[in-house]
Amino acid sequence: MMDWRPEPFVLGGSGRAHLRVQGLSAGYGAFLVLRNLALEARPGLTVILGPNGAGKTTLLKSLAGLIPRQGEATVDGVALPTEPDRVVAAGVALVAEGRQLFPQMSVRENLELGGWLVPKAERARRLEQAFADFPKLRERATQMAGTMSGGEQQMVAVARAMMSAPRLLMLDEPSLGLAPRMVDELLAIARRIADAGTTVLMVEQNVKKALAVADRGYVLERGVLVASGPAVLLARSSIVREAYLGAPAAAAARPIPA
Ligand SMILES: Nc1ncnc2c1ncn2[C@@H]1O[C@H](COP(=O)(O)OP(=O)(O)OP(=O)(O)O)[C@@H](O)[C@H]1O
Ligand SMILES: [Mg+2]
Repeated sequence: MMDWRPEPFVLGGSGRAHLRVQGLSAGYGAFLVLRNLALEARPGLTVILGPNGAGKTTLLKSLAGLIPRQGEATVDGVALPTEPDRVVAAGVALVAEGRQLFPQMSVRENLELGGWLVPKAERARRLEQAFADFPKLRERATQMAGTMSGGEQQMVAVARAMMSAPRLLMLDEPSLGLAPRMVDELLAIARRIADAGTTVLMVEQNVKKALAVADRGYVLERGVLVASGPAVLLARSSIVREAYLGAPAAAAARPIPA
């Protein structure tokens, strides 16, 4: 059996993990996407912004061990493993772009799979906690995941990740393709998870809404970080206002260097 920590479940649990990344490079074969990145995700909610193809997904995948990476990545000073199973066992979970649920399995079964690393009794306890944290999912426990709405499926994907009681939760565009109300709901869930003690690192394209719920943020362009800082300052920076919020240059504040 693999290692597991009998930590309290996350919505109401703890963790407050601190991720530090130094000199990170990653890509696909000879194609290097990320070059020498330095960033951190402190307790709270950190958002990664940036245009399509910037390397946001590549960043999360490399941290999750799904693609090789070079450089240093630590969580609370301990090296982050490079194999996906060991990353999960180290308390780091990824909700990938596109959710990747098992559509022919029920909501409950999908959630149980999120707790596959932990003993059965603990898994049952966490499932109960997940239903308490996501009451909508309890109502839908026996529904096939593939028949749920996009927003509901995204909620299942987040709840499934929480079944591993992560200290660090990585979310790749949780609001992708959702109606505005569901976008707000998913971002509020991310905020609640961060407030309950799980560090959240989230990629988002809803720049305004993401900066409104985040504590800190980074802007990634063509594999390089071009700005970073507290979310309130980033929202006012010219680099974000001009490129992502459609504001005229004259009204903008000075950029924050990365
Ligand atoms: N499996 C792959 N093989 C080769 N190249 C890839 C692969 N996945 C992504 N890429 C390339 O890596 C670069 C970064 O892609 P990535 O998916 O990380 O961007 P992103 O910032 O997440 O974009 P989006 O906002 O569209 O999701 C792109 O040029 C993309 O074409
Ligand atoms: Mg992506």
